[in-house]
Amino acid sequence: MNTLVAPSLLAADFLRLDKAVDIVNSSADIFHMDVMDGTFVPNLSFGFPVVEAVAAKACKPLDVHLMIVNPQNYVERFAKVPGVEMISFHYEASKERTGEILDLIRSFGCKAGIAINPDCPVESIFPYLEKADFILIMSVFAGFGGQKFIPESLRRIAQVRQQLDSIGLKNIPIEVDGGVGPGNAADIRKAGAQILVAGSSVFRASDPASAVAALRA
Ligand code: DX5
Ligand code: ZN
Repeated sequence: MNTLVAPSLLAADFLRLDKAVDIVNSSADIFHMDVMDGTFVPNLSFGFPVVEAVAAKACKPLDVHLMIVNPQNYVERFAKVPGVEMISFHYEASKERTGEILDLIRSFGCKAGIAINPDCPVESIFPYLEKADFILIMSVFAGFGGQKFIPESLRRIAQVRQQLDSIGLKNIPIEVDGGVGPGNAADIRKAGAQILVAGSSVFRASDPASAVAALRA
């Protein structure tokens, strides 16, 4: 599977979101949209109006990363925004409801992803891998852009990759989110990830399109 780059709009200039949308449309693969509720994470970001506005101008799929409690209450509305093709929620927020929420996301025709924070043992999500379409491994604690990549994440990516491969799920991609940049992208890919989320390293770069290219190189 080719590496896919998913710029996180959280790091974009919100007064010029049109520019950020153009950058992703012309140089990247996926719009990564970080939705935060101030309860699951100690931060607020944006919700439906921003996701809908971006979706209306997007020619690439949207990937909605829900960092919220009770994700099941918001899945349908996000799934029904044209262009939203991937929705992930945190295992720490869903626990034993994880399977049910993956089914719910799939029932609307979206790809369903389980997101997992750095302090949660990767084994906790193993029972649900069959129901997932992708796995989102956080390489920083969810909640803020611009944090430093946690090196231990490489081992966690490799563990999940190995588990997926060993149960015949070679085609389920791993997405990595947090502190991803040109300096660590090759290691992250080597560990077994296929989708790279990047906020600061793309939108704070002087040339975002070449920053995206550098993540693939
Ligand atoms: C953090 C978000 C990330 C964030 C990544 O909670 O899930 O998607 O925007 O930003 P960078 O790439 O700056 O670490
Ligand atoms: Zn994210």
